[in-house]
Order: sequence, then C-alpha cells, then structure tokens
Amino acid sequence: MEKRVRKAVLPVAGLGTRVLPGAKTTPKNLLNVVDRPILSYVVEEARAAGIEHLIFIVGRGQGAIEDYFDANPEIEGALEAKGKLDILAEVRRDLPEPGEMSFVRQMAPLGLGHAVWCARYIIGDEPFAVMLPDMLMAAEPPALAQAVAAYEQTGGNIIVVEPVPEGEAHKYGIVALDGRDGRLNRMTGMVEKPPAGTEPSNLFISGRYILQPEIFEILETQERGAGDEIQLTDGMAALMKRQDFHALEYEGTTYDCGDKLGLLRANVAFALRRPELADAARKMIQELL
Ligand code: UTP
Repeated sequence: MEKRVRKAVLPVAGLGTRVLPGAKTTPKNLLNVVDRPILSYVVEEARAAGIEHLIFIVGRGQGAIEDYFDANPEIEGALEAKGKLDILAEVRRDLPEPGEMSFVRQMAPLGLGHAVWCARYIIGDEPFAVMLPDMLMAAEPPALAQAVAAYEQTGGNIIVVEPVPEGEAHKYGIVALDGRDGRLNRMTGMVEKPPAGTEPSNLFISGRYILQPEIFEILETQERGAGDEIQLTDGMAALMKRQDFHALEYEGTTYDCGDKLGLLRANVAFALRRPELADAARKMIQELL
C-alpha cells in the first residue's frame, strides 16, 4: 500500500520577471485574479485534495506571503465593527490551521529543482505534491484531487499534463508516452522546452506533480540545465530510470498566470465563472470590443 500524499510544496521564490514591475514589491503569486490572490485558489485546491501541510518556498522580499496567511486584527476588527461579515468571512477563508503552513527561504533562485530540494527536511520520507502556483487550474474535481486519485491507482510518480496550445510546445516541458490509452498513461521520458517540431507529444507538464522522496537524492547532486537553472524536469527524467512515472491528462483548463496576457486571460475567465459578476463582465468585454 502506497503512503498517502499529505504534503505539498509550493515554490514561489522565482523573480516573476515576466510580470515586472508588478511583481517587484508584490510577489507574483499574490497578484489578484478578480479579487483573490493567485495563491488563494491554489491553497483551496490543495485542501480539496486532502493536503494537510503546505510548504512554501519563498524568496527575499516575499514576507507579504506569510502576512497574507496570518490574522490581521486591524482589518478583521474593522470589518466586524462595521458588520461587514461577508467580507470578513472572505478575508478569513484562507487562514491556516495552526501549523498547516511552513515557509522555507530559497536564498537564490537557482531553479525549480533547487526550490523543491529546499523542502527535503520537511517532506522526509514520503510522497508529496508539487504545485506551481502560477498555473491556475479550473477543474472539477480540482486538478490535484484528480492527480491523487490517479496516484491511488498507479503509485509511483504522477505528472499532470494537458494538450499544449498550437505552436507553444517550445515554452513548456513535454512528456513522451509509452502508448496512449485513456487519460492515464505510463511515461517514457520528458523534455524541457523542446525546439519547435521536436516535441515527443502534444502534452505539456502543467504544474501539478506527485513525486517520491527519492527525487531529493537526485536533485542534491544535479548539474544546472536549461537557463543555467537546476531543472525539476531533469531530476524527474533521472528518477524515471528507477521508478514509474504516469502522465495524467486531467479534465479541466489551465491558466498560466506567469505572463501579462495569461494573467489577463485568467482574470477574464474567472470573472466570467463568478455568478455575481458574469453578466456585468460579459457586458463590459463586449463594450470594450
Ligand atoms: P517560472 O520560471 O515560471 O517563474 O517558475 P519565475 O522565475 O518567477 O518567472 P519568470 O520566468 O522570471 O517570469 C515556475 C515556478 O517556480 C518557482 C517560481 O516562483 C514559479 O512559481 N521558482 C522558480 C522558484 O521558487 N525558485 C526558482 O529558483 C525558480
């Protein structure tokens, strides 16, 4: 019987270059989609998958993330005094249970593989999830819950994938499969940002993973790869020589909030999904067009 997935690593220590200068003083993942920070959606997704402990890998100048997940007596007191209880409930909804969240500093943004490795002592010897928070996933059941359900079938390692938009394979990690039958398939390889026309499938790695702790031994000694960064993809490719990996083509849509247009698209799409905003948002978009 495989061990249950109880912990998730959320690496947020990147520089967010593509959404500067907005991400200069507000960490990228605290930028709003409609009225909530990107991270709020991802935390909700983690909890829906049964995750009990969230480990954020943060960088310098990102103290606002810890503050966001802390009580704010001034704001909460003012809302209470004014009887604005619906807003108060929204403000409190993301707050952790005592001990539910840990924060680890990545002292230099050496790459996603390095960021994940920073969580090794907190994860210990059990399988864990990795969630890239700038990828927002609109899905029912939520994307990580779908990954956990797949993991309960196959064990090993799971990578959540999705058909890549035409002509964009060179921007992402792409998986190679051992045949394709249904949504859950054994993998034979993966490649980070393949040159156009060389991609081994049309499925990109969309930002949710379930990994076994042996990945840490590999990341520990791994050389720098693409972009002179320690790449998680390279580490997973090495682990695949020893352990099974399955790609799960999840049911849902990914919104990459890591660049300007993606963040705009997520804002529009999530506004249209909100019953109290949808009509007004649609009208506004039509007027603008
Ligand atoms: P990205 O490369 O998409 O994010 O990394 P970035 O570095 O913040 O953005 P750009 O490319 O400069 O615009 C994917 C995820 O991995 C985290 C990022 O914060 C992001 O959530 N990451 C990346 C780290 O935590 N540490 C790193 O060293 C690199």
